[in-house]
Amino acid sequence: MVLAVLFVLAWAACGEPGAGSLDGGPDAGRAYVPEPFEPTPATIAYCARDDAEVEARITAILAQLTPAEKIRMMHGASVALVDGTWYVAGHERLGVPGLRMLDGPRGVSSLSGRTATAFPVGMMRGATWDPALEERVGAAMAREIRAAGADTILAPTINLLRHPRWGRAQETYSEDTHHLGELAVAFVRGVQREGVLASAKHFALNSIENTRLHVDVRIDERSLREVYLPHFRRVVVDARVASIMSAYNSVNGLHCDLNHHLLTDILKGDWQFAGFVESDWILGTHGDVESVRAGLDIEMPAASHFRRLHAALAAGEITEAEIDRSVRRILRAQFCFGLDERTPMVDDAQRETPAHLALAREVARRGIVLLKNEWVDGAPVLPLDASSIDAIVVLGRNATAEAIGDLGSSRVRPTDVVTALEGITARAAGRIAVRHLPGSTLDAAGEAQLRAADVAIVVTGLGAEDEGEGTVAAGDRTSLALPEGEVSLIRAVSAIHPRVIVVLEGGAAITSADWDGDVQALLFAFYPGSEGGHAIAEILFGDAAPSGRLPFSVPVSEADLPVFDNVSPQVTYGYFHGYRHLQHEGIAPHYPFGFGLSYTSFELSDLRLSSDTVGPEGTLEATVHVRNVGAVAGIETVQLYIAARGSALERAPRDLRAFGQIALDPGEGGDLTLSVRAADLAYWDVATSRFVVEPIEYEVQVGRHSEDVALVASFRVE
Ligand code: BGC
Repeated sequence: MVLAVLFVLAWAACGEPGAGSLDGGPDAGRAYVPEPFEPTPATIAYCARDDAEVEARITAILAQLTPAEKIRMMHGASVALVDGTWYVAGHERLGVPGLRMLDGPRGVSSLSGRTATAFPVGMMRGATWDPALEERVGAAMAREIRAAGADTILAPTINLLRHPRWGRAQETYSEDTHHLGELAVAFVRGVQREGVLASAKHFALNSIENTRLHVDVRIDERSLREVYLPHFRRVVVDARVASIMSAYNSVNGLHCDLNHHLLTDILKGDWQFAGFVESDWILGTHGDVESVRAGLDIEMPAASHFRRLHAALAAGEITEAEIDRSVRRILRAQFCFGLDERTPMVDDAQRETPAHLALAREVARRGIVLLKNEWVDGAPVLPLDASSIDAIVVLGRNATAEAIGDLGSSRVRPTDVVTALEGITARAAGRIAVRHLPGSTLDAAGEAQLRAADVAIVVTGLGAEDEGEGTVAAGDRTSLALPEGEVSLIRAVSAIHPRVIVVLEGGAAITSADWDGDVQALLFAFYPGSEGGHAIAEILFGDAAPSGRLPFSVPVSEADLPVFDNVSPQVTYGYFHGYRHLQHEGIAPHYPFGFGLSYTSFELSDLRLSSDTVGPEGTLEATVHVRNVGAVAGIETVQLYIAARGSALERAPRDLRAFGQIALDPGEGGDLTLSVRAADLAYWDVATSRFVVEPIEYEVQVGRHSEDVALVASFRVE
């Protein structure tokens, strides 16, 4: 709503619609010869086939379109959705279908007016550390997007989690670029194999909400290239992402849509991106000719600035060849992804299908992270033994919450949401009494019920009122702590009961060091989506062993992290944040990046490297033996960190460079092989403006999380 009002103001400031329009009249029947275009390796890779015929077809279309028709393809059709999607015009007679876009990162946007599966938020999917699972999520979401009449999904959100107070933390996957890149590539592949275009966003450095429209993020080139951009590069180069959305904020003094360095030097130049760039919505475009020249191809969701392109063209401020370059990218995306070969269709039966709901449940189960599980009276508090308990008390502000995420653009409206209380009650199946104590205080009756129960489960954390997208939802968090009333409730329950399990929901790290010593078990359940309550119950009752791992560090206190400044007009991002910052500063995290317990345990042994040297273009393989030494089946996530030895410049103490998973039955063992590309060890050399792989020694550190250096070996790049 606020955005809509701002948009109307921006629109009003931009002069008469169609001023200087070249529509009709002089263009009718004109003889126009577009620039010739030869396919390049990048356009062939983007199209996933030899695209000579596609490029020739585009050239023929460019010869027939009027300038006005071309400009119409460079902006959304309306500030309101058209038939439930954000529409960009095509051209019926010339067989150009146009684009129909919808958010977003956790399912079909509620703005479509249609119900859909609410998949667990991105950060929870990051916690699965399972790219193959994420690829399935991408494909399922794409099928639902198509069944809502759209062809382009405004996802994934891949801004790095620089700080957990960021309001949209829940949308992205990780604080680590390698981990984020692996998940994002998988998502994009899943989406695009269903013929839907993915749009990775927001390019770049958009990780503050409250000032997102105007903050200028200052960054040095090395941090930009090594820390904040590699995952964007990967979706372009490794996953041929169809489009990229520019961010609202400025980077080094220029708004992202005006940022030639980001959009053209890096994205379209260094990475040879062959798709189109669209602006973020309503207030994400700041220029007309300047934005097009910087590399912006489409203004969304309607023409505010781009309306002036007509006049600019008439006045010779921009050439038709420049317009054609953008239109070629927009048409290439439509033809290479086959949008011209099918008719958009709404099919309500293809959303919230049993298979998609089952997948949402599987992902939630896989993403829940067990942070603490103490032994009481000779046994761990979790899993709950359904055969020996009679009564459970459930408390906490999130027990009955529909934990599907914030109220911003990624909001999804599912038909049903299984709350934690419903999931636990269903799993108890009438054999165990489940009593709910609402509110954040205990009265005498509540205390009595608590004393009589075998276990207390406090489901708490954050909600849409605490964190979310800026402008349209709650914005950034004000603190990393739990709301005070919930901490008091946890303390009150812990003072009475010896078996207290806390289930935390939220988008990213919630500090718990000041109270979790009082509780016996702690789980992080993010915003687990449509089926979340069932997944929580499955983990509590041990139907599956927890396998989620934190995609972020949980600090002891917020003061341990870099400052989160969401008020200043200018902020500076540096080389260190997250676990790299904590390790660089020698600060122990409360729960490390990559950490998560299970109901079984694993032993890692016998680390072997494929070679003790590797060329700068080569790949090293590290094989490790993993054994399940506990009593139940489980999934282990093995993480490989690299420490550069004797580098000419400062490096992070260790960087995640590979990870993999293995599912093992009790007593079973197996080998896991992880690949490290030498190119991923490079640093950005500011003197020569290129990545350099240093010929030095690299230590391979293999363990279960970022603080666990269980096995070590070394190799050299030569
Ligand atoms: C958000 C984008 C979203 C767009 C369309 C913007 O406010 O920042 O992520 O895709 O709206 O809903």
